[in-house]
Amino acid sequence: MSRAPLPYSSKILELFRNPKNLGKMEDATVCAIAGSPACGDMIAFYLKINEDEVIEKATFESYGCAANIATASITTEMVKGKKLEDAWKISWKKVADEVGGLPTVKFHCGILSVGAVRRAIREFYKKKDEKPSWLQDELTIEEKHALEEEELARVLSKKLAKVLSKKTGGK
Ligand code: FES
Repeated sequence: MSRAPLPYSSKILELFRNPKNLGKMEDATVCAIAGSPACGDMIAFYLKINEDEVIEKATFESYGCAANIATASITTEMVKGKKLEDAWKISWKKVADEVGGLPTVKFHCGILSVGAVRRAIREFYKKKDEKPSWLQDELTIEEKHALEEEELARVLSKKLAKVLSKKTGGK
């Protein structure tokens, strides 16, 4: 059985082939992860933030699919040069628009990117022991989604471990 290729925009394909700002940042101010290595859909975001709370540099590492790489790449471009308050307001829908739209089954890939950025911003203020008024207490949709996905991956990997241990007789 063959599968039809996903209707990716040309922008997604371009960013997948030539992602911008890919790689670990050694001198990052803050780093955050979203997703789970158990299912492979994991993303790490690194932000270099200056004294004026402006993002000077953003990079990412992705273990996800083409849409995950493309949305993460565009997100680094979108947050670069922005004040944290403005970077915080970038929603997954804006990211999806920026890459020319996402197939429905790939929405979560873009959501994970924004979830990771928001976690990094929260982490920045946690380290400073500060909380600006615009930083809401309640988790945003993107952060909730990342949590749900991590929980699902945890449950699935537990089940898989059980099945494998039955097959191998617990060896
Ligand atoms: Fe999960 Fe894209 S990151 S399918």
